[in-house]
Amino acid sequence: MSSIRTKFTFLYTLIMTFIVIIFAVSSYLLLYYNILNNLEKTLNRTSQEIIEQYLRYDEETGLQVVSNQSDTTLSDDLFIKNLSLRIVDKDKNIITQLGSFKKQIKPSQSKINNTLFTGNSSLSIDDDIDSNQNIYLAAPIIIQDNIVGVIELSQPTGNSFTALQQLGLILIAGIFASIAISVAAGYYLSRSLLGYINQLIDNVEAITRSQDLEKRLPVPNKYKDELTRLAGTFNNMLVNLQSEFIREKNFTANVSHDLRTPITIIQGNVDLALRKKTLTPGQTTKTLHKIKHETKRMGAIIDDLLELSSIEKNQNTQFQKLNLVKVLNQIVNNFQDKILAKNIILVYKKPKNNNKYQINGRLEQIERLLSNIIDNSIKYNKQNGKIIIKLSQKLGKIYVSIQDTGPGISTKHLPYIFDRHYQVTKSETGIIQGFGLGLSIAKEIVKIHSGKIYATSKVNQGTTIKIVFPQFT
Ligand SMILES: Nc1ncnc2c1ncn2[C@@H]1O[C@H](COP(=O)(O)OP(=O)(O)O)[C@@H](O)[C@H]1O
Ligand SMILES: [Mg+2]
Repeated sequence: MSSIRTKFTFLYTLIMTFIVIIFAVSSYLLLYYNILNNLEKTLNRTSQEIIEQYLRYDEETGLQVVSNQSDTTLSDDLFIKNLSLRIVDKDKNIITQLGSFKKQIKPSQSKINNTLFTGNSSLSIDDDIDSNQNIYLAAPIIIQDNIVGVIELSQPTGNSFTALQQLGLILIAGIFASIAISVAAGYYLSRSLLGYINQLIDNVEAITRSQDLEKRLPVPNKYKDELTRLAGTFNNMLVNLQSEFIREKNFTANVSHDLRTPITIIQGNVDLALRKKTLTPGQTTKTLHKIKHETKRMGAIIDDLLELSSIEKNQNTQFQKLNLVKVLNQIVNNFQDKILAKNIILVYKKPKNNNKYQINGRLEQIERLLSNIIDNSIKYNKQNGKIIIKLSQKLGKIYVSIQDTGPGISTKHLPYIFDRHYQVTKSETGIIQGFGLGLSIAKEIVKIHSGKIYATSKVNQGTTIKIVFPQFT
């Protein structure tokens, strides 16, 4: 059914078979050459003994077979060892042939020639006339440093190779057995492995089908591996998605509500004006002012929304080298009137070395960010309060801190103030003028500038917002 399973099993079997065959062939060859080597040694020794004991040579008579001192004859010796023998002189005349060589009419010319010519012995395994396997040795007869002929010895391989044949059978059986085992093991292994993957696939499909973000993937506790980690990560992602989804839903509801309110007010005023057939100039001005106020409010909300979505889409101006001190000076200047209106003392020490405060950023966004924070610190501050703005720089980072003497934010609310449309209720702050988007916009801006923003606060003492930027390099 699943192709990974087939592939896995196939590959697994292939590798196993390959390993087993290499092992089998090498052990077979090792044993084969070992046996052959031993046989060669024995035959060589025998041929030397025969030459020493039974062969004589001189110029006149040539190569001769003689009887040795003991009672045994050459044919007895050979018979005991189940050996066949042929002796050929250097003119390729057959001096004697015993055993199975008798049945063979002609010696192999090439082997004889080769031995005479090179003076080396050679070993081979041949089939004789009765098609029995024989081990065959041709060795030069060297008497007084002269090659005077060739001695050929042959012996049925008989039991020598039985062990090898048995090993061969065992190895072949082993190869088949290991293939069978590999297929079974590969199949089983992949089933247990892919079983869980299939389970994951089914669950993901179910989630996609039902669009139910409440569902989670199974994460069995009995084993921990990459797959369960994957499932765990996926579940975490679902949790995040779900909360994001809920937040998004709430946000839309809140936005609609916030836009609904000014529209209701405007409609109310317009209706009232229409119902009264004639309006005094004073009434007209009042109505128009109310309408103006509410449209301004709506405009501000829409501006915030547009800003937020443009940041999220990231369709904005290019990044450039910005001097944070200069930008901050400008923003502080813009707020002079508001600060004066509330009789707030502003403590802002401009750093001496401007050059250290360069960041890589988008001017409009940085302006917007600082404005949002300073705006809050004025808006939520008390009359005759204080604002302390500090800039510092350390280890490639630039720190901005904006501290106020407002009502502070209780620990209950503090973790959420950067969320969209989060506002501490009016009963706690005394004022609600904004739309609750200022800090979430600030957070987004800081994020795309690879910075960090956080707030510390003490109720009844004030709030400090800190921003960290990476220094321009
Ligand atoms: N400096 C501050 N002092 C006290 N409360 C603050 C301060 N800054 C922000 N907050 C709280 O965090 C909420 C979110 O701020 P923000 O996103 O700027 O929205 P807004 O200013 O439109 O209400 C505010 O409604 C307010 O309750
Ligand atoms: Mg604000």
